[in-house]
Amino acid sequence: MTKTLTTRYEQLKTLLAKHNQSQLLRFYDELNQAEQTALLDQIEAYDWDTLSNLIESHVLNEPNHAPDSVITPAPYYPVNPKKEDEGTYEHAKTLGVTLLKQGNIAAFTVAGGQGSRLGWDAPKGTFPATPIKKKSLFQVFAEMIRKTQQKYDTIIPWYIMTSTVNDADTRAFFKQHNYFELHPDNVQFFPQGTLPSIGFNGDILLADKSTIAVNPDGHGGSLNALKRSGALNDMQQRGITQISYFQVDNPNVKPFDPLFIGLHANKNADMSSKMLTKKHAKERVGNFCMVNNRMSVIEYSDMPDELAQQKDENGNLKFNAGSIAIHLISVDFVKQLTSGKNLSLPYHRAEKKVPHLDLTQQQTIEPQKPNAVKLELFIFDALPLAKESILLQTERVEEFAPIKNAEGDDSPATSRELQSERAARWLEAAGVKVARKADGSVDAVIELSPLTATEQADLVGLEL
Ligand code: UD1
Repeated sequence: MTKTLTTRYEQLKTLLAKHNQSQLLRFYDELNQAEQTALLDQIEAYDWDTLSNLIESHVLNEPNHAPDSVITPAPYYPVNPKKEDEGTYEHAKTLGVTLLKQGNIAAFTVAGGQGSRLGWDAPKGTFPATPIKKKSLFQVFAEMIRKTQQKYDTIIPWYIMTSTVNDADTRAFFKQHNYFELHPDNVQFFPQGTLPSIGFNGDILLADKSTIAVNPDGHGGSLNALKRSGALNDMQQRGITQISYFQVDNPNVKPFDPLFIGLHANKNADMSSKMLTKKHAKERVGNFCMVNNRMSVIEYSDMPDELAQQKDENGNLKFNAGSIAIHLISVDFVKQLTSGKNLSLPYHRAEKKVPHLDLTQQQTIEPQKPNAVKLELFIFDALPLAKESILLQTERVEEFAPIKNAEGDDSPATSRELQSERAARWLEAAGVKVARKADGSVDAVIELSPLTATEQADLVGLEL
């Protein structure tokens, strides 16, 4: 053991003892020097005061959700403007186009999730998503970017947040596909952060004798990851002012919508969102609400039932604004949020099955039921911190065809149907006759390449 290693070991041993986490060094003497160094590096990477406080508040206790908050529906710009707002929408569209042309907009995909519900054993963005050509989600987004670059004669840099688990595979996929003809300098990857997985008794788990068991820190961790990776600096150097944030699971997303960009920029908003009208009270989407007068998302699992079920005077859901996880975030806002030591976003607690090393048997345990708490940050928790935030309604079929589950709702099959339906609508609006069944659904499988159209207007004037 070299002197420095010994000193580090002694210091960290004392630190861990103070925080009741000495088990992490239980096998230290059995490790070779490289493993010892790796373990000490992992321990050193965390802020132990913060972590200990979190374990106390979120693992040994359940966090308090402010019970006395005043929760009201969030106001939004409707998909079709009221007569008196038509001018505002037109002005916003023009502004949005200007910002796109000036090269002020970046694309940002969060692709760090584990995709376990889908059962796809590769990065989710590699999943074959489209109905006929079976293009991957990444290819669909790449083609949207190419089309938009061409349409506005601009460059849209694309930042992709991966995880430590899927980063190498994601990069390899892009290389293998020649970056789908985007310039590699304009596509950047960086892994998101991790947090230790914590047993219900407050002990951090070991994955093996020299590795702490960790989980991704949630898409809210993307804010720190943008800064840590240098992506935020890169954006500033390129003159990017707004980040178009979207999830990897939605092939119908419209990340470069001039109306949305313009409404957001017009208000000088820090962070804005798109919403759709929920199908029913319990749909598994976040709910846009005003919480104590601040724009917020209450996740479906946290939405009190009596609020979710409330109706307005017309019998419609009072809290009808569902989140499709599409945001515009200003670069200045990300700078502001990440300027201090810690992000001021709340942590969410989820109970998970985490494989780990049993300290007595010294064997890996694959638990059958949840055995640990994973702590995560959610991007939408930045909304209440925004000084200004707008919400724009969109139509479900136009912008939301998520692939989340292997079967049933939000599955590859429902996504393909929605993609086909959207293509049919665009073609019909352009004068093409599309076969429909008696119930109105499309009697065909249709796929439109994003290279042809990323919005209905792109079909106008084409020979169809
Ligand atoms: C999410 C939203 C929900 C919204 C719905 C719309 C949350 C908690 N909920 O639900 O409000 O209505 O999408 O489709 O987000 N990801 C990372 N790193 C992580 C965790 C997730 O990059 O550590 C990415 C995933 O790759 C995915 C996205 O975030 O692109 C959403 O994550 P997921 O956990 O699947 O959220 P949902 O339950 O689908």
